[in-house]
Amino acid sequence: MYDIVVTTHPGLEEILSEEIREITGRITCGSHYAYIEIQGELSDIVKMNINSRIATRVLVRFAQFTFGDLDDLYAEAKKLKWSSFLNPRRTFELELNGRHGFKGLNMPLLRVKDAIADHFREKTGSRPSVDKERPDVRISLYIEGNSMKVFIDSSYHPLYHRGYRTRGHFSPMKENLAAGLIRLSGWDGRELFYDGFCGTGTIPIEAFLIKNGIQPQVLRKDFGLAPLTDNAETLIRKEKRRIDIKYKKGIIGNDISPKALHGAGESLGLFSRYGGIDFRMGDFLKKTAPADKGLLLINPPYGERTDMEKEFPKYLGDKLKHDFKGWAVHIFSANNDFIKNIGLRAKRKIPVKNGAIDSRLCYYPIF
Ligand SMILES: C[S@@+](CC[C@H](N)C(=O)[O-])C[C@H]1O[C@@H](n2cnc3c(N)ncnc32)[C@H](O)[C@@H]1O
Repeated sequence: MYDIVVTTHPGLEEILSEEIREITGRITCGSHYAYIEIQGELSDIVKMNINSRIATRVLVRFAQFTFGDLDDLYAEAKKLKWSSFLNPRRTFELELNGRHGFKGLNMPLLRVKDAIADHFREKTGSRPSVDKERPDVRISLYIEGNSMKVFIDSSYHPLYHRGYRTRGHFSPMKENLAAGLIRLSGWDGRELFYDGFCGTGTIPIEAFLIKNGIQPQVLRKDFGLAPLTDNAETLIRKEKRRIDIKYKKGIIGNDISPKALHGAGESLGLFSRYGGIDFRMGDFLKKTAPADKGLLLINPPYGERTDMEKEFPKYLGDKLKHDFKGWAVHIFSANNDFIKNIGLRAKRKIPVKNGAIDSRLCYYPIF
Protein backbone atom coordinates (compact mmCIF):
# COMPACT_ATOMS: atom_id res chain seq x y z
CA MET A 1 0.00 0.00 0.00
CA TYR A 2 1.15 3.49 -0.77
CA ASP A 3 0.32 6.68 1.14
CA ILE A 4 -1.01 9.01 -1.49
CA VAL A 5 -1.82 12.71 -1.52
CA VAL A 6 -4.08 14.03 -4.26
CA THR A 7 -4.02 17.80 -4.69
CA THR A 8 -6.68 20.09 -6.15
CA HIS A 9 -7.97 23.66 -6.09
CA PRO A 10 -9.08 24.83 -2.61
CA GLY A 11 -12.85 24.40 -2.43
CA LEU A 12 -12.92 21.20 -4.50
CA GLU A 13 -11.60 18.83 -1.80
CA GLU A 14 -14.98 17.32 -0.94
CA ILE A 15 -15.97 16.55 -4.53
CA LEU A 16 -12.45 15.26 -5.16
CA SER A 17 -12.94 12.77 -2.29
CA GLU A 18 -16.23 11.63 -3.83
CA GLU A 19 -14.66 11.30 -7.26
CA ILE A 20 -11.65 9.35 -5.95
CA ARG A 21 -14.04 6.97 -4.17
CA GLU A 22 -15.89 6.40 -7.46
CA ILE A 23 -12.61 5.80 -9.32
CA THR A 24 -10.82 3.56 -6.82
CA GLY A 25 -13.60 2.26 -4.56
CA ARG A 26 -11.50 3.47 -1.64
CA ILE A 27 -12.50 5.85 1.11
CA THR A 28 -10.10 8.74 1.54
CA CYS A 29 -8.32 8.93 4.90
CA GLY A 30 -8.32 12.68 5.26
CA SER A 31 -9.35 15.90 3.61
CA HIS A 32 -7.20 19.01 4.04
CA TYR A 33 -6.82 22.44 2.49
CA ALA A 34 -6.18 21.76 -1.23
CA TYR A 35 -5.51 18.03 -0.88
CA ILE A 36 -6.89 14.73 0.26
CA GLU A 37 -5.08 11.65 1.57
CA ILE A 38 -5.74 8.08 0.57
CA GLN A 39 -4.00 4.72 0.78
CA GLY A 40 -3.89 2.63 -2.35
CA GLU A 41 -2.06 0.28 -4.68
CA LEU A 42 -0.15 1.11 -7.84
CA SER A 43 -3.31 0.30 -9.82
CA ASP A 44 -5.17 3.04 -7.89
CA ILE A 45 -2.41 5.53 -8.68
CA VAL A 46 -2.71 4.72 -12.38
CA LYS A 47 -6.53 4.94 -12.27
CA MET A 48 -6.51 8.29 -10.49
CA ASN A 49 -4.03 9.78 -12.95
CA ILE A 50 -6.03 8.74 -16.01
CA ASN A 51 -9.57 9.22 -14.68
CA SER A 52 -9.65 12.04 -12.17
CA ARG A 53 -11.19 15.17 -13.67
CA ILE A 54 -10.67 17.24 -10.52
CA ALA A 55 -7.18 16.27 -9.25
CA THR A 56 -4.15 18.45 -9.94
CA ARG A 57 -1.45 15.94 -8.93
CA VAL A 58 -1.24 12.44 -7.51
CA LEU A 59 1.73 12.40 -5.13
CA VAL A 60 3.09 9.17 -3.69
CA ARG A 61 4.81 9.39 -0.32
CA PHE A 62 8.35 8.12 -0.35
CA ALA A 63 9.50 9.27 3.09
CA GLN A 64 8.63 11.36 6.10
CA PHE A 65 10.88 12.59 8.89
CA THR A 66 11.34 15.35 11.43
CA PHE A 67 14.48 17.41 11.81
CA GLY A 68 15.98 20.14 14.00
CA ASP A 69 18.07 22.57 11.98
CA LEU A 70 19.10 22.63 8.34
CA ASP A 71 22.17 20.45 8.96
CA ASP A 72 19.89 17.91 10.57
CA LEU A 73 17.54 18.11 7.58
CA TYR A 74 20.51 17.42 5.29
CA ALA A 75 21.66 14.46 7.41
CA GLU A 76 18.16 12.91 7.57
CA ALA A 77 17.57 13.41 3.84
CA LYS A 78 20.95 11.87 2.99
CA LYS A 79 19.98 8.65 4.80
CA LEU A 80 16.89 8.01 2.64
CA LYS A 81 16.86 5.16 0.12
CA TRP A 82 16.98 7.40 -2.94
CA SER A 83 18.41 4.57 -5.00
CA SER A 84 15.01 2.82 -4.91
CA PHE A 85 13.98 5.13 -7.76
CA LEU A 86 16.98 7.32 -8.66
CA ASN A 87 20.42 6.54 -10.02
CA PRO A 88 23.29 8.65 -11.37
CA ARG A 89 22.00 8.23 -14.94
CA ARG A 90 18.55 9.59 -14.06
CA THR A 91 17.77 13.28 -13.77
CA PHE A 92 15.44 14.79 -11.20
CA GLU A 93 13.75 18.00 -10.18
CA LEU A 94 12.65 19.06 -6.70
CA GLU A 95 9.74 21.27 -5.75
CA LEU A 96 9.06 22.57 -2.25
CA ASN A 97 5.71 23.53 -0.76
CA GLY A 98 4.51 24.25 2.75
CA ARG A 99 5.67 26.48 5.57
CA HIS A 100 8.95 26.73 7.45
CA GLY A 101 10.75 29.22 9.63
CA PHE A 102 14.08 29.23 7.79
CA LYS A 103 15.38 32.43 6.29
CA GLY A 104 15.55 32.13 2.55
CA LEU A 105 12.70 30.44 0.76
CA ASN A 106 14.86 27.85 -0.91
CA MET A 107 17.19 26.84 1.91
CA PRO A 108 15.51 23.50 2.80
CA LEU A 109 15.20 22.70 -0.90
CA LEU A 110 18.90 23.30 -1.54
CA ARG A 111 19.87 21.17 1.45
CA VAL A 112 17.82 18.25 0.20
CA LYS A 113 19.36 18.63 -3.28
CA ASP A 114 22.82 18.52 -1.67
CA ALA A 115 21.78 15.49 0.39
CA ILE A 116 20.69 13.58 -2.74
CA ALA A 117 23.90 14.49 -4.59
CA ASP A 118 26.15 13.52 -1.67
CA HIS A 119 24.19 10.32 -1.00
CA PHE A 120 25.05 9.07 -4.49
CA ARG A 121 28.52 10.59 -4.74
CA GLU A 122 29.65 8.83 -1.57
CA LYS A 123 28.16 5.50 -2.68
CA THR A 124 28.93 5.48 -6.40
CA GLY A 125 31.33 8.35 -7.17
CA SER A 126 28.75 10.07 -9.38
CA ARG A 127 25.35 11.64 -8.87
CA PRO A 128 22.08 12.21 -10.70
CA SER A 129 21.77 15.70 -12.15
CA VAL A 130 19.03 18.23 -11.80
CA ASP A 131 17.01 18.94 -14.94
CA LYS A 132 14.37 21.63 -14.53
CA GLU A 133 12.73 21.14 -17.94
CA ARG A 134 12.46 17.38 -18.61
CA PRO A 135 13.61 15.51 -15.51
CA ASP A 136 13.12 11.74 -15.36
CA VAL A 137 11.68 12.06 -11.87
CA ARG A 138 9.80 14.91 -10.25
CA ILE A 139 10.10 14.97 -6.46
CA SER A 140 7.79 17.07 -4.36
CA LEU A 141 8.76 18.12 -0.84
CA TYR A 142 6.19 19.23 1.69
CA ILE A 143 7.47 20.99 4.78
CA GLU A 144 5.40 21.91 7.81
CA GLY A 145 7.48 23.42 10.62
CA ASN A 146 10.15 20.80 11.24
CA SER A 147 8.40 17.90 9.56
CA MET A 148 9.29 16.95 6.01
CA LYS A 149 7.38 14.71 3.61
CA VAL A 150 8.96 13.56 0.38
CA PHE A 151 6.73 12.55 -2.53
CA ILE A 152 7.23 11.12 -6.00
CA ASP A 153 5.01 13.09 -8.38
CA SER A 154 3.27 10.32 -10.29
CA SER A 155 1.42 12.83 -12.50
CA TYR A 156 4.63 14.53 -13.71
CA HIS A 157 2.71 17.39 -15.38
CA PRO A 158 -0.27 18.77 -13.49
CA LEU A 159 -3.40 16.89 -14.48
CA TYR A 160 -5.08 19.99 -15.86
CA HIS A 161 -2.71 19.45 -18.79
CA ARG A 162 -5.12 17.23 -20.66
CA GLY A 163 -3.36 17.50 -23.99
CA TYR A 164 -6.25 19.16 -25.83
CA ARG A 165 -5.22 22.77 -25.45
CA THR A 166 -3.71 23.89 -28.75
CA ARG A 167 -0.96 26.44 -28.38
CA GLY A 168 -1.23 30.23 -28.09
CA HIS A 169 -4.53 30.59 -26.27
CA PHE A 170 -5.00 33.39 -23.78
CA SER A 171 -5.54 32.79 -20.03
CA PRO A 172 -8.18 30.08 -20.08
CA MET A 173 -9.58 28.40 -17.00
CA LYS A 174 -7.72 25.36 -15.69
CA GLU A 175 -9.36 22.22 -17.01
CA ASN A 176 -9.70 20.51 -13.62
CA LEU A 177 -11.23 23.65 -12.15
CA ALA A 178 -13.80 23.68 -14.99
CA ALA A 179 -14.60 20.00 -14.35
CA GLY A 180 -14.92 20.71 -10.61
CA LEU A 181 -17.32 23.60 -11.22
CA ILE A 182 -19.47 21.41 -13.46
CA ARG A 183 -19.65 18.79 -10.72
CA LEU A 184 -20.46 21.43 -8.09
CA SER A 185 -23.26 22.72 -10.33
CA GLY A 186 -24.93 19.30 -10.04
CA TRP A 187 -25.34 18.92 -13.82
CA ASP A 188 -26.83 15.50 -14.52
CA GLY A 189 -25.41 15.18 -18.04
CA ARG A 190 -28.88 15.09 -19.59
CA GLU A 191 -30.19 18.64 -19.33
CA LEU A 192 -29.01 21.18 -21.89
CA PHE A 193 -25.64 22.66 -20.91
CA TYR A 194 -24.75 26.17 -21.99
CA ASP A 195 -21.66 28.36 -21.43
CA GLY A 196 -22.37 31.81 -22.88
CA PHE A 197 -18.81 33.14 -22.36
CA CYS A 198 -16.88 29.99 -23.21
CA GLY A 199 -13.62 31.55 -24.48
CA THR A 200 -11.40 28.69 -25.57
CA GLY A 201 -14.12 26.23 -24.61
CA THR A 202 -12.72 24.76 -21.40
CA ILE A 203 -16.08 24.45 -19.62
CA PRO A 204 -18.10 22.99 -22.53
CA ILE A 205 -15.24 20.66 -23.51
CA GLU A 206 -15.05 19.30 -19.96
CA ALA A 207 -18.87 18.91 -20.03
CA PHE A 208 -18.55 17.05 -23.36
CA LEU A 209 -15.93 14.68 -21.88
CA ILE A 210 -18.14 14.03 -18.83
CA LYS A 211 -21.27 13.44 -20.92
CA ASN A 212 -19.51 10.96 -23.19
CA GLY A 213 -17.53 9.26 -20.42
CA ILE A 214 -14.26 10.21 -22.12
CA GLN A 215 -11.31 9.91 -19.77
CA PRO A 216 -9.72 13.31 -19.05
CA GLN A 217 -6.20 12.03 -19.76
CA VAL A 218 -6.98 9.85 -22.75
CA LEU A 219 -4.79 12.03 -25.02
CA ARG A 220 -1.84 12.35 -22.65
CA LYS A 221 1.11 9.98 -22.87
CA ASP A 222 3.59 11.03 -20.22
CA PHE A 223 3.09 10.56 -16.51
CA GLY A 224 5.56 10.18 -13.65
CA LEU A 225 5.00 6.49 -12.96
CA ALA A 226 8.42 5.23 -14.03
CA PRO A 227 9.96 5.59 -10.53
CA LEU A 228 7.23 3.27 -9.20
CA THR A 229 7.20 0.53 -11.84
CA ASP A 230 9.01 -0.78 -14.93
CA ASN A 231 5.61 -1.36 -16.48
CA ALA A 232 4.33 2.20 -16.59
CA GLU A 233 3.52 2.31 -20.30
CA THR A 234 1.58 -0.96 -20.26
CA LEU A 235 -0.41 0.02 -17.17
CA ILE A 236 -1.35 3.35 -18.71
CA ARG A 237 -2.32 1.73 -22.02
CA LYS A 238 -4.48 -0.85 -20.25
CA GLU A 239 -6.30 1.79 -18.19
CA LYS A 240 -7.19 3.93 -21.19
CA ARG A 241 -10.44 3.32 -23.06
CA ARG A 242 -11.17 4.08 -26.68
CA ILE A 243 -12.92 7.36 -27.31
CA ASP A 244 -16.54 6.48 -27.95
CA ILE A 245 -18.78 9.45 -28.68
CA LYS A 246 -22.43 8.68 -28.07
CA TYR A 247 -23.77 12.18 -27.53
CA LYS A 248 -23.10 15.02 -29.91
CA LYS A 249 -26.02 17.19 -28.87
CA GLY A 250 -26.94 19.03 -25.71
CA ILE A 251 -23.89 21.24 -25.10
CA ILE A 252 -23.57 24.81 -26.37
CA GLY A 253 -20.61 27.17 -26.10
CA ASN A 254 -20.86 30.82 -27.08
CA ASP A 255 -18.28 33.60 -27.17
CA ILE A 256 -17.87 36.98 -28.77
CA SER A 257 -14.29 36.26 -29.86
CA PRO A 258 -13.78 34.33 -33.13
CA LYS A 259 -10.16 33.67 -32.19
CA ALA A 260 -11.12 32.02 -28.89
CA LEU A 261 -13.79 29.96 -30.63
CA HIS A 262 -11.30 28.86 -33.25
CA GLY A 263 -9.11 27.47 -30.44
CA ALA A 264 -12.14 25.81 -28.85
CA GLY A 265 -12.99 24.09 -32.14
CA GLU A 266 -9.40 22.90 -32.57
CA SER A 267 -9.41 21.38 -29.07
CA LEU A 268 -12.72 19.61 -29.61
CA GLY A 269 -11.39 18.27 -32.91
CA LEU A 270 -8.81 16.22 -31.01
CA PHE A 271 -11.65 14.11 -29.59
CA SER A 272 -14.22 14.23 -32.32
CA ARG A 273 -13.83 14.81 -36.04
CA TYR A 274 -17.51 15.57 -36.42
CA GLY A 275 -18.16 18.06 -33.64
CA GLY A 276 -20.16 17.44 -30.51
CA ILE A 277 -20.44 20.93 -29.07
CA ASP A 278 -22.56 23.57 -30.73
CA PHE A 279 -20.13 26.53 -30.72
CA ARG A 280 -21.80 29.84 -31.51
CA MET A 281 -20.39 33.32 -31.93
CA GLY A 282 -21.96 36.52 -30.66
CA ASP A 283 -22.72 38.88 -27.83
CA PHE A 284 -24.42 36.93 -25.06
CA LEU A 285 -26.39 40.00 -24.06
CA LYS A 286 -27.96 40.23 -27.51
CA LYS A 287 -28.94 36.58 -27.74
CA THR A 288 -32.04 34.86 -26.50
CA ALA A 289 -31.86 31.69 -24.41
CA PRO A 290 -31.34 28.68 -26.69
CA ALA A 291 -34.15 26.66 -25.02
CA ASP A 292 -36.89 26.87 -22.39
CA LYS A 293 -34.71 25.31 -19.74
CA GLY A 294 -31.21 24.09 -19.11
CA LEU A 295 -28.11 24.73 -17.06
CA LEU A 296 -26.03 27.84 -17.74
CA LEU A 297 -22.52 27.85 -16.27
CA ILE A 298 -20.50 30.98 -17.03
CA ASN A 299 -17.24 32.60 -16.10
CA PRO A 300 -17.98 36.10 -17.42
CA PRO A 301 -15.36 38.80 -18.00
CA TYR A 302 -15.16 41.71 -15.61
CA GLY A 303 -13.53 44.93 -16.63
CA GLU A 304 -14.36 48.27 -15.13
CA ARG A 305 -12.76 50.71 -17.51
CA THR A 306 -15.61 51.82 -19.74
CA ASP A 307 -19.17 52.73 -18.76
CA MET A 308 -20.36 49.70 -20.68
CA GLU A 309 -18.07 47.47 -18.61
CA LYS A 310 -19.26 49.04 -15.36
CA GLU A 311 -22.87 48.43 -16.35
CA PHE A 312 -22.16 44.91 -17.67
CA PRO A 313 -23.13 42.97 -14.49
CA LYS A 314 -26.46 44.80 -14.36
CA TYR A 315 -27.17 44.08 -18.06
CA LEU A 316 -26.21 40.45 -17.50
CA GLY A 317 -28.52 40.18 -14.46
CA ASP A 318 -31.41 41.74 -16.42
CA LYS A 319 -30.80 39.38 -19.32
CA LEU A 320 -30.85 36.35 -17.04
CA LYS A 321 -34.01 37.54 -15.22
CA HIS A 322 -35.94 38.13 -18.41
CA ASP A 323 -34.65 35.54 -20.86
CA PHE A 324 -33.57 32.59 -18.75
CA LYS A 325 -36.72 31.73 -16.82
CA GLY A 326 -36.68 28.01 -16.08
CA TRP A 327 -32.86 27.83 -16.16
CA ALA A 328 -30.40 26.90 -13.43
CA VAL A 329 -27.75 29.64 -13.69
CA HIS A 330 -24.27 29.25 -12.19
CA ILE A 331 -21.83 32.14 -12.27
CA PHE A 332 -18.17 31.74 -11.36
CA SER A 333 -16.45 34.99 -10.50
CA ALA A 334 -13.61 36.40 -8.43
CA ASN A 335 -15.22 39.79 -8.22
CA ASN A 336 -17.60 40.46 -5.31
CA ASP A 337 -18.82 43.76 -6.75
CA PHE A 338 -19.63 42.00 -10.01
CA ILE A 339 -21.75 39.45 -8.16
CA LYS A 340 -23.45 42.21 -6.15
CA ASN A 341 -24.21 44.29 -9.22
CA ILE A 342 -25.87 41.43 -11.08
CA GLY A 343 -28.89 42.17 -8.87
CA LEU A 344 -29.98 38.56 -8.40
CA ARG A 345 -30.15 36.73 -5.08
CA ALA A 346 -27.88 33.68 -5.04
CA LYS A 347 -29.41 30.54 -3.55
CA ARG A 348 -25.94 29.15 -2.89
CA LYS A 349 -22.38 30.49 -3.01
CA ILE A 350 -19.51 28.03 -2.96
CA PRO A 351 -16.01 29.47 -2.37
CA VAL A 352 -13.43 28.01 -4.76
CA LYS A 353 -9.94 29.35 -5.40
CA ASN A 354 -8.85 30.00 -8.96
CA GLY A 355 -5.06 29.80 -8.57
CA ALA A 356 -4.39 32.25 -5.74
CA ILE A 357 -7.60 34.19 -6.36
CA ASP A 358 -10.59 33.84 -4.05
CA SER A 359 -13.61 33.17 -6.22
CA ARG A 360 -17.10 31.74 -5.81
CA LEU A 361 -19.60 29.72 -7.75
CA CYS A 362 -23.02 31.31 -7.31
CA TYR A 363 -26.24 29.49 -8.08
CA TYR A 364 -29.38 31.30 -9.20
CA PRO A 365 -32.48 29.30 -10.03
CA ILE A 366 -34.42 31.68 -12.32
CA PHE A 367 -38.21 31.53 -11.99
C1 LIG B 1 -13.10 34.97 -18.34
S1 LIG B 1 -13.16 34.58 -20.05
C2 LIG B 1 -13.78 32.96 -20.10
C3 LIG B 1 -12.66 31.98 -20.23
C4 LIG B 1 -13.15 30.59 -20.51
N1 LIG B 1 -13.84 29.99 -19.37
C5 LIG B 1 -11.98 29.71 -20.95
O1 LIG B 1 -11.67 28.74 -20.27
O2 LIG B 1 -11.34 30.01 -21.97
C6 LIG B 1 -14.51 35.54 -20.59
C7 LIG B 1 -14.87 35.38 -22.06
O3 LIG B 1 -16.01 36.20 -22.33
C8 LIG B 1 -15.93 36.62 -23.67
N2 LIG B 1 -16.86 37.78 -23.78
C9 LIG B 1 -16.69 39.04 -23.37
N3 LIG B 1 -17.82 39.76 -23.58
C10 LIG B 1 -18.73 38.92 -24.14
C11 LIG B 1 -20.08 39.05 -24.57
N4 LIG B 1 -20.72 40.20 -24.45
N5 LIG B 1 -20.69 37.97 -25.08
C12 LIG B 1 -20.06 36.78 -25.19
N6 LIG B 1 -18.77 36.60 -24.81
C13 LIG B 1 -18.11 37.66 -24.29
C14 LIG B 1 -14.47 36.91 -23.90
O4 LIG B 1 -14.15 36.83 -25.28
C15 LIG B 1 -13.81 35.81 -23.05
O5 LIG B 1 -13.50 34.71 -23.88
